[in-house]
Amino acid sequence: MSEFDNEPSYNSSDNEPFSSILERNWSRRHVMRGGLALAASTLFGNLGLVQADSPVNDPTRPSPSAAARNIKLRFEPVPGSKTDAVVVPKGYTATILAPWGTPLNRQASAWKSDGSNSAQDQANAVGMHHDGMHFFAIDGRSDDGLLLVNNEYIDQDALHPNGATRNEMGKRPADEVRKEINAHGISAVRIVKENGQWHVLSDDPLNRRYTSATVMDLAGPMAGTDHVKTAFSKDGTQARGTNNNCGNGYTPWGTYLTCEENWPDIFINRAETLPADQQRLGMPTEESRYGWETAAQDASERESEFARFDLTPRGDDATQDYRNEASTFGYIVEIDPFDVKRRAVKRTALGRFRHEGCWPGKLEPGKPVVFYSGHDARFEYIYKFVSKANWDPADANPKDRLATGAKYMDKGTLYVACFNDDGSGQWLPLTPEAPTQQNYSTLGKELGELPEIILNTARAADLVGATPMDRPEWGNVDPASGDVYMTLTNNDKREIDQLSAPNPRPRNENGQIIRWRETGDNSFRWTIFVFGASAKAPDTINRSALTQDNQFASPDGLMFDPRGILWIQTDNSDNAVADYTNDQMLAVIPSQVTSREGYATTIDERSQELLKRFLVGPNDCEITGFAMTPDHTSLFINVQHPGNWPYDTDATQAAPGGSNVRPRSSTIVIQREDNGEIGV
Ligand code: FEO
Ligand code: CA
Ligand code: CA
Ligand code: CA
Repeated sequence: MSEFDNEPSYNSSDNEPFSSILERNWSRRHVMRGGLALAASTLFGNLGLVQADSPVNDPTRPSPSAAARNIKLRFEPVPGSKTDAVVVPKGYTATILAPWGTPLNRQASAWKSDGSNSAQDQANAVGMHHDGMHFFAIDGRSDDGLLLVNNEYIDQDALHPNGATRNEMGKRPADEVRKEINAHGISAVRIVKENGQWHVLSDDPLNRRYTSATVMDLAGPMAGTDHVKTAFSKDGTQARGTNNNCGNGYTPWGTYLTCEENWPDIFINRAETLPADQQRLGMPTEESRYGWETAAQDASERESEFARFDLTPRGDDATQDYRNEASTFGYIVEIDPFDVKRRAVKRTALGRFRHEGCWPGKLEPGKPVVFYSGHDARFEYIYKFVSKANWDPADANPKDRLATGAKYMDKGTLYVACFNDDGSGQWLPLTPEAPTQQNYSTLGKELGELPEIILNTARAADLVGATPMDRPEWGNVDPASGDVYMTLTNNDKREIDQLSAPNPRPRNENGQIIRWRETGDNSFRWTIFVFGASAKAPDTINRSALTQDNQFASPDGLMFDPRGILWIQTDNSDNAVADYTNDQMLAVIPSQVTSREGYATTIDERSQELLKRFLVGPNDCEITGFAMTPDHTSLFINVQHPGNWPYDTDATQAAPGGSNVRPRSSTIVIQREDNGEIGV
């Protein structure tokens, strides 16, 4: 189930949506298909730009290095499944590793199946609704490491004995709210493999939680500005908590990136007029998602721990109340996994919006460090941050990882993507000097200096003419070619007046994966890598000729492993694919998806067998998060919001018919019975 499927669009700009641009692009390529199979099938070379004798450095050529390893996906694809258990290929195992509530130290008592664990337990145990994650190997080992796992949101029914409660005045009990706050954020979990079995090392000194209450530093253009001054941080240098941490990233210098996605909904603002940035992001005005602010003035409340979720101005200025509290959310947050004493840092230069994730581009010595990010909401944008500092390979192993983060992430330029129907695209800078679509105007004249642009990043992107997308979720970069892939999960609530007339995939109900390659001068070339669809759909919709072995919809998680295998995870519901199977993970080696002439292509009837279903999750869940050991023999993924699972430490076991368990999101580990590499 998609958590935010019913969220309306907050983009009121006239910028042409990607779906119409794509349809023009697609029909132009198909007009050519008649006699010119080569040009028509070429991914980056629409409209005859690619000639048969392209030079060797032609960007339409896939990079040979991944393909040269000649790896093959050797597992038998698993069929779709509607059972309440994880399904993996023959010869593989799937085991529960770190479910919600797993104690991380002695301050937490064991998880209780009646929901009665305390807020204090939750602050010292694995959080709820696991999402993005990363495995930080210890000493490069493949049997010892630290998992950093996002805990995106909560299920109040599972979290408490009787779900969320309120008193007759509508107030939430302080202890329930604290438990909910503590169930969000990030869990750092030391895991080890002994005798072939992974387990959590409870009470390890590296184990810890970052929650919606943990104090963090603000860095970059917003830090110290009036926009982020609050009664808690009168100089605007700190924030309390991180929220709705969805996808993740990691840096070349060994830190974890966690991304604040659907955070506006934890707030409420009852002011008559909302600040422009809050209107643009869709700040609730009638009811917050969980009602945390209703616990304010409880006798146990400390430092406005609940009152801060109500943004309505009350004091004489911003340092007297929490009108600016929301301006301390919406960022990429950097964590040093191995230094428990250092605070997490919000890197504000990467923009403020509903960040799905944050993914580094291909690193090149002497060139800037690049991060890609998407705003997961209907008709929102894709962004790229380019560091001011150039990459110094000596920084791969720095003494001070967060100082290195400051070097590459606090100064640089944020860009937003504009797509053209001829397969080209531009990165438009979001700087005060950047021209807007209005004649002779700039972002500086329209919005102000860099902090004002960051504060309302999406509005700045509207003004420069960025392309509204169909909900960008995860992105990832091919380690060999540097090509960027991003899931556009779906946009099935699109209003009719936003449709282009001759569009056979008008609502993009099934989603697709876009791919682009940087071509210098802030330009790129793009096309679709694969279209999601039901195998039964007509070929105007099932454009990648998907079959039972690989039909999927609503792609969300996306991760390249170092071998060049791309793993695709789904968060799907309410369509023909959902009738056939629960959410799933598929694998494909994109560098092998080529035309006979060796050009990169969209998956179609000639190549669809290269895309294979690897795993299916239990009922009602979403599959998300991806991490692997350096030797590729242990794969970690997350099962988020299952309905009635897990039943056993063996993740492939369903509860016996009719019996109910309290559902627990969990990290699971997948291994091969012969201890071989996953997938090949
Ligand atoms: Fe939290 Fe966009 O998924
Ligand atoms: Ca989700
Ligand atoms: Ca997601
Ligand atoms: Ca999703």
